[in-house]
Amino acid sequence: MTETEDESVNSAEQNAPVGGYGSPNGSMRGFLSEVQADLAQGMLSPRVLNDPELHQAELERIFATCWVFVGHVSEIPSPGDYVLRYVGEDQFILVRDEQGEIQLLLNSCMHRGTMVCRAEKGNTSHFRCPYHGWIYKNSGDWNGAPHRGKAYRKLDAASWGLRRAPHVDSYQGLIFACLDPDAISLREYLGDMCWYLDVLFGLNEQGMSVAGDPHRWVVPANWKSGADNFVGDAYHVQSLHQSLGEIGLVPGIEKGAGAHFHISLKGGHGLIANSGILPEPFGVMGYPPEVASTFDLDRFEADQRAFLEGRFGVTGFTIFPNLSFFRSVTSTEVGQPPMNFTLLRQWQPRGPAKFDLWNWSLVWNSAPKEYNQAAYNAGINAFGPSGVFEQDDTVAWSGGPSTGRSVFARQSMKFNYQMGLEGMSDYALASDWMGPGDASTTYYGDMNQRRWWHRWSEQLQSS
Ligand code: FES
Ligand SMILES: [Fe+2]
Repeated sequence: MTETEDESVNSAEQNAPVGGYGSPNGSMRGFLSEVQADLAQGMLSPRVLNDPELHQAELERIFATCWVFVGHVSEIPSPGDYVLRYVGEDQFILVRDEQGEIQLLLNSCMHRGTMVCRAEKGNTSHFRCPYHGWIYKNSGDWNGAPHRGKAYRKLDAASWGLRRAPHVDSYQGLIFACLDPDAISLREYLGDMCWYLDVLFGLNEQGMSVAGDPHRWVVPANWKSGADNFVGDAYHVQSLHQSLGEIGLVPGIEKGAGAHFHISLKGGHGLIANSGILPEPFGVMGYPPEVASTFDLDRFEADQRAFLEGRFGVTGFTIFPNLSFFRSVTSTEVGQPPMNFTLLRQWQPRGPAKFDLWNWSLVWNSAPKEYNQAAYNAGINAFGPSGVFEQDDTVAWSGGPSTGRSVFARQSMKFNYQMGLEGMSDYALASDWMGPGDASTTYYGDMNQRRWWHRWSEQLQSS
């Protein structure tokens, strides 16, 4: 190498990513095309983690058109039961009406927009607006107003009910809603994820229930950092969470990370799966005999049964856009046996630089009470406002918004998503995977994340 060439190593041109910097502040359509070109080369602009224009587009083209998780059936078991929930940044009432149907009602009075329900949860036959007293049934239908005979003699009651999500459906106890009247069905939206939801939540007829209310707190990061992490980032565990191994809460945490691999599904959904990370006596999906014996594997097809009996498990997943799952084992105290717990996690946007993190603990209805209590304790010890894993992750993600709005960062850098690309690692697709989707041979790859971001960019370009 000549001296001249050597000097060029430090030039801006030499440091530029292969795809170039593109237009970090350019029009959104042009930017999204660049995102797709960048992803093909394993790169992503930091702009995605803090941009008001992208954020507004996400509310309109992702949260108002995709199927979004709003709760678990066990949260509203009886007619009149309700909880407050969000789709994007809009607040809704998730309620079981008098007919037993689940409704998702916009929490805005049709008269002047006042919230008709201010309690986080409860049971009621009607919602009465505090402002002028309009009344709605728990189905959302308009049911009257003070002095109706004098004030609204000709009002068409059928037109003035609370706005209702056009589609609400559930699968394996998970309730989703879609605000797009022309949406595909939930089954079609979930696609092959149904196969995995069966083996995660359908291990017996009794199924799972939420344990207590979901924990909620504010994280100073972009909501997509959570979705990105849980869709495929097993690589961070050995680094960010290393201290949990060192203090004995998760013995062999490095080994655990190495037992993981990815499954990528159509639609941007993806899973972090594992293979036999626990020694005997932990059996099906990492459960001890007193719990595993309550499972009924006869209800599964041969390929699902092979998954369950093959000591495979799923550590995490993300269903596009913002629902994630975590099932793993930790000890609540050093020296105590590891306990398997199940969490649902949702990344709720609050502007481009902040999100609310919702965390539900789920327990098996068939399991001994003591086990469920211990599993709940293990779950909140690991994740939640004071969780030992959580505090690691959320601090790491909080760097996203400052990098995302940085003029210099937008001009000079792109994030690296090249792990697993040709020649980077031994990452490959398994040829004999028993289930649906593309399964990888190792976890040294960003395939799931690249595909999640690709779906995100496609969705933002949809009309
Ligand atoms: S705003 Fe609700 S009754 Fe007037
Ligand atoms: Fe983590």
